Amino acid sequence: MFDYSRTGFDQQRLDSLIQLALDSGLDEWRRRLFDGEEVNPSEGMSADHTLLRVRRPEDSPNALGSEIQSQRKAMMALGSALNQGVMPGYAGVITDVIHVGIGGSVLGPQLILEALHNIDAGSVQVHFLSSADGWRVSALMRELNPETTAVVVVSKSFSTREIRLNLQRLRTWLSVSRPGIAPEDQMIAITSQNARALAAGFRKENTLLFPESIGGRYSLWSAVGLPIVIRYGDTIYLDLLAGAERMDQHFADTPATANLPVLAALITIWHRNICGYPAVAIIPYDTRLRLLPSWLQQLDMESAGKSVDRYGQPLEYQTSPVIFGGLGTDVQHAFFQALYQGTDTIPVEFIGVVNNDSNDPQNNRHVRFQLANLIGQANALAFASQSQTGVSSGSGSSLHRQFSGNRPSTVMLLETLDAGTLGELLAFYEHRVFVQSVVWGNNPFDQYGVEFGKELSTQVGEFLEAATSAGDADNLNEGDSLLDWVVTKLRKK
Ligand code: F6P
Repeated sequence: MFDYSRTGFDQQRLDSLIQLALDSGLDEWRRRLFDGEEVNPSEGMSADHTLLRVRRPEDSPNALGSEIQSQRKAMMALGSALNQGVMPGYAGVITDVIHVGIGGSVLGPQLILEALHNIDAGSVQVHFLSSADGWRVSALMRELNPETTAVVVVSKSFSTREIRLNLQRLRTWLSVSRPGIAPEDQMIAITSQNARALAAGFRKENTLLFPESIGGRYSLWSAVGLPIVIRYGDTIYLDLLAGAERMDQHFADTPATANLPVLAALITIWHRNICGYPAVAIIPYDTRLRLLPSWLQQLDMESAGKSVDRYGQPLEYQTSPVIFGGLGTDVQHAFFQALYQGTDTIPVEFIGVVNNDSNDPQNNRHVRFQLANLIGQANALAFASQSQTGVSSGSGSSLHRQFSGNRPSTVMLLETLDAGTLGELLAFYEHRVFVQSVVWGNNPFDQYGVEFGKELSTQVGEFLEAATSAGDADNLNEGDSLLDWVVTKLRKK
């Protein structure tokens, strides 16, 4: 259920924005998306994530279909083996898998494994590693047994430096702890750059592929979803794909006036471009969706955080709002003060699950408590009041307790949270940002903005490595601080 009654978005406004979406070419761009035609002009590519969840992609008119089917088959075979603790080509039992990735190669799989955690899972534990700061990789190497651990390295480009740094540490860990045994026996690569994975020493039979035309933040439906099969088996994984396919069909076939991703996209446009609101707060009221805001930050802000259109011409209006959020009710005790009485109006997206999926009757009270808070907060944001609660004898004027109302929110309620509804939900968000990008005219499938920072970080990194390996840092006088040394060095740079 998607309730936008607290957004001040009425039929007339809806009709005019639907016309805007249609005038922006929604039908044609949506057709190109589903037909595998070019929708990513800056890279000259299609975006084939919807083909990843078609039940029988080999029957698709899209030539990529048979490749996607064989890649899905290979991933599910390896995932099903690992689900049973078996790593083909490796004699030992696998009890743990370290999934190394960053951005789209970790946010989606991690969200899904947490969202489905009350579903019967296998015994193999999956540990996600994305940060390159050394703390997480050290903890994993301390806690896990190298003899029973498989390392899955996920990188579409197979050139992301954080991943290569962590891979280097883990490869050494495996080879040092298992003399004479090639670490590659326990290592899997998931990438669209086969040659780079093979050049990095990964076995062909331990390399899973996905097409170049799948964006990283849209890749959880591909071989990148391996940890889902490892943890929950192939049936759950196929249920997830089927849920996403149901949402694809809804998005493709439903007229704009009843099309959920279209409606939600237009509400974002209304709040962002007409009301001028700078941000959106994503507040799931179910711990299983704790990582949804983080996943949406990348999906929305890396897809629509652009200031040029799909052909490189500057845009004269705002695009992606800042996406942030957290778990309700926790964040009611963190930043809701600002949402109620701050100087900025920030639309809120509430997401709740109605049924008690845990089957423990004691949990029914918790589910009702969460829903009561979700609805209560949405109403309190929407309706003005002069709250009398907490009236103190202090000198504070009544303005302290004045609530302006008209603070908009949408409420999305799921009957239950299972692999199917999770697939629907995530596909809904993918199509929402696609429609927003059609109206804004930006390309949702490239991400040139991250390149410059990577380039300068590499330069600074090489500089620090050179200075350190030249032994400069060893010449520090007693009591000199390494920080001063780094700052001095960089200042000279
Ligand atoms: O942030 C840039 C980006 O390319 C994301 O789009 C991607 O999900 C992430 O880095 C990781 O990239 P790769 O999968 O190529 O290592």
